[in-house]
Amino acid sequence: ASTLGAAAAEKGRYFGAAVAANRLGEAPYASTLNTEFNSVTPENEMKWDATERTRGTFTFGSADQIVNHAQSRGMKVRGHTLVWHSQLPGWVAGLGTADLRSAMNNHITQVMRHYRGKIHSWDVVNEAFQDGSSGALRSSPFRDKLGSGFIEEAFRTARAADPAAKLCYNDYNTDGINAKSNAVYNLVRDFKSRGVPIDCVGFQSHFNSASPVPSDYRANLQRFADLGVDVQITELDIEGSGTAQANSYGNVVRACLAVSRCTGITVWGVTDKYSWRPSGTPLLFDGNYNKKPAYHAVLTAL
Ligand code: XIL
Repeated sequence: ASTLGAAAAEKGRYFGAAVAANRLGEAPYASTLNTEFNSVTPENEMKWDATERTRGTFTFGSADQIVNHAQSRGMKVRGHTLVWHSQLPGWVAGLGTADLRSAMNNHITQVMRHYRGKIHSWDVVNEAFQDGSSGALRSSPFRDKLGSGFIEEAFRTARAADPAAKLCYNDYNTDGINAKSNAVYNLVRDFKSRGVPIDCVGFQSHFNSASPVPSDYRANLQRFADLGVDVQITELDIEGSGTAQANSYGNVVRACLAVSRCTGITVWGVTDKYSWRPSGTPLLFDGNYNKKPAYHAVLTAL
């Protein structure tokens, strides 16, 4: 196949990109997206500060734009994200325990119901664990007020809101086998053993020279898959350029394809010029939408 999406589809996977609603009007942005990708993730438009900036008032305009764009072209949509300490409106952090519990559950329910049937996988909880060796949950309004059970509560609420959506836990620095990924692994194992709903784990996979593609990436994906969940590469970008960057991208694709439950890959943007890493060139298309060596490495590996 001659595009990323079509090549991935031949392997039973999707190949997606994070998309910003306010770029869809740029013709080469839209045509690159439409030609090459068969899944999208709204980069910011489904986050809490975009969908419920004021308590109880839900705004879906820009996320709907992305979902409509995708649906009308037969692309899948990943939902990102329901419960996260970042891009969280100030009112949430100001709530007391009982109010926070109902606000979290209401947020999950309203957003998931709005998109019911349209989202293949939801990042229900994002980045709940601390970096480093502690294996502990990070401080957040959710953990600090609701306790560590907030994750279970969020997943149970999510299952009820859209029973057909795959429910994912998503995080970064969990791509190799390390203390943080061990903590996520233990969470998933516990959920599976107690029947708490969870279907997938997202590995953000933001790589750079300080945090390169781990040599045990495939083994890490496989050990999660062996727990009985799908795995997805959800926010892939790799700083660098040329052959080194291309080789790293190829390694990521080969790791996913080697794990039968690795169901898809999403890169965190279409073009380098709009990457969230402002000084970087971490994506598959340059600022003029030219295919980079990394693009060709991905297509060859698929
Ligand atoms: C980033 C977006 O790309 C930026 O536009 C925004 O300013 C900040 O968030 N982990 C995540 C993503 O789960 O939601 C983040 O996206 C990148 C890190």
